Amino acid sequence: MLTILKTLAWIVLPIVGHALFWIGFINRMHGLRLRHRVMLPLQLFHFLWVPVASLAWIGWVGWGEPRLLAGGHPADLGWQERWGGLTFMAVALLWLLRWVVLTRRPPARQIVSEQRELHQIGQELAEPPVNREARNNWWLSIPGNEILSLEIIELELTLPRLPAAWNGLRILHLSDLHYTGGVSLPYFERVFELARERPSDLVVFTGDLLDDVRLHEWIGPTLGRLSAPLGCFFLQGNHDWEWGDIDRTRQRLENLGWQNAGGQTRRLVWRGQPVVLAGDERPWWGPGPNWSLAEPGDFRLLLSHSPDNLPAARRSGVDLMLAGHTHGGQVCLPVVGPIYAPSLFGVKYAGGTFDRSPTLLRVSRGVGGMYPWRWNCRPEITFVTLRPAE
Ligand SMILES: [Fe+2]
Repeated sequence: MLTILKTLAWIVLPIVGHALFWIGFINRMHGLRLRHRVMLPLQLFHFLWVPVASLAWIGWVGWGEPRLLAGGHPADLGWQERWGGLTFMAVALLWLLRWVVLTRRPPARQIVSEQRELHQIGQELAEPPVNREARNNWWLSIPGNEILSLEIIELELTLPRLPAAWNGLRILHLSDLHYTGGVSLPYFERVFELARERPSDLVVFTGDLLDDVRLHEWIGPTLGRLSAPLGCFFLQGNHDWEWGDIDRTRQRLENLGWQNAGGQTRRLVWRGQPVVLAGDERPWWGPGPNWSLAEPGDFRLLLSHSPDNLPAARRSGVDLMLAGHTHGGQVCLPVVGPIYAPSLFGVKYAGGTFDRSPTLLRVSRGVGGMYPWRWNCRPEITFVTLRPAE
């Protein structure tokens, strides 16, 4: 029993803490405006360094003197092992404590209801929607990968400043489609077919469309098939900045009836009531939204690729902010929670609904991913129904 506790405390916890330290570092670096050529070496380094350092730690502390795995005593550890072990033990414990606190928080008080419908698109289609020839396709073979499924979320929210005339307005929120070519077009066509089966008054797409510009032709049979009485609005994300052809994509979407919300502010009138809609593509493109169009008391709806624009949204009195980018953490482990969320906040806003008065933030897990791998973190599209507060 003592050996198990010693192993857990001095070998497992420091290894977990060290891995979490690097993941936290990589997540925050991804929240910056850095090119892939800078991020890729960092990512590769952390993918290689973490297992190498973990094995070295097992050898050093477990089998080196005082041979903890063979009954040695931690009191005999040298100062390097002791301080190194304690530091990363603390990182692991702080991460776990933070995650326990975050998961025990009550759901945002504005949520009236939240329902989920699961579709196993990969199994529903006659042929698996996978291109075996594509780059990165080996991720698709990882057991338990949920990338070919889809969760349709029906979310009903009350918002205090929503005009009464907008009661029941439905927004379809899509994010992070990530056309890489690995998951093939029939998957995305099915996603949009399902999206069209339910009514929506307003459609928004919060960025990250093309990871491969050769897949431009996919825009027509997917986003091009949507329409809504209040309009379809889009902005672009960091992957569009890095790999997409932003002007061509913008032109293509506008030709298909979509309106660019990136860096724009618009006053929409629906049933005689105005709402101000803006888009924020920072830090990849600026400037941020100019709210001078909004009158005091106007409902403010913000689309943002990254949830990192939340502090600016709160300062501007945004009522509802819809974001993506963090993919729900992409991989969610039991106890540890979401892992990879490219944000200055780490995994705090990986996905879900967050009450940060005066702003209600909704972060979509999105649909795809440059690395097509999701564990315990299904692709999602969300229908948000708005209700004014009593
Ligand atoms: Fe993304």
